[in-house]
Amino acid sequence: MVFRQFFDPVSSTFTYLLASRRGGEALIIDPVKEQLGGYLAAIDELGVRLVHAIDTHTHADHVTALGDLRDATQCTTVMGERSKALCVSRKVSENEVLRMDGIELKALYTPGHTDESFSFVLNPRRPEAVFTGDVLLIRGSGRTDFQGGDARRSWDSIVNKLFRLPDEATVYPAHDYNGCTASRIGDEKRFNPRLSGKSEAEYIRIMDSLNLPNPAMMDVAVPANLACGQL
Ligand SMILES: [Fe+2]
Repeated sequence: MVFRQFFDPVSSTFTYLLASRRGGEALIIDPVKEQLGGYLAAIDELGVRLVHAIDTHTHADHVTALGDLRDATQCTTVMGERSKALCVSRKVSENEVLRMDGIELKALYTPGHTDESFSFVLNPRRPEAVFTGDVLLIRGSGRTDFQGGDARRSWDSIVNKLFRLPDEATVYPAHDYNGCTASRIGDEKRFNPRLSGKSEAEYIRIMDSLNLPNPAMMDVAVPANLACGQL
């Protein structure tokens, strides 16, 4: 398996490039417009052919590279079926499987951070990893106070969908602000301070009292991302 994790330091965003082998078909998850050159260099170095560029949700803190990657590589652009981005060429629904050259990626509808967020399970017959977007973060979870966010739905997505994956499955979030790069489902069940030992009501209380400022980029990023980063 070819696997690269990229980090955008301005927005603390992780982007993932996956292929089953050098020279094979590849997909990328949550690419950032400013990092396009790095993705194209890696695609070139690995000799892979990008077939899918996926956004887990409409990001509010950075502009997506989906449209630029489509133009550069002729890949399809993919989001969940509830995305309002008209530019996206393929919208996946719950349990739909994207198949390519030795890799399967199953879409899971995991609203809560936004009302259109999806997570993606790698090789779902024996789940190895899950790309959780901003719904489940390492020792945290994505804010639920805008873009149709809802703390109750966040709890439901995490506890009743993501936490039903095997404990050993690796968690790859779209962000980390503390220097972590990955986690495991079992570790998040045990050590995530918002979730471990908490009731649904306690989780909702925590999320509803975060009082976070809006992301600095929000007014630019959301409209841009509804156009695949090409306004
Ligand atoms: Fe987000």
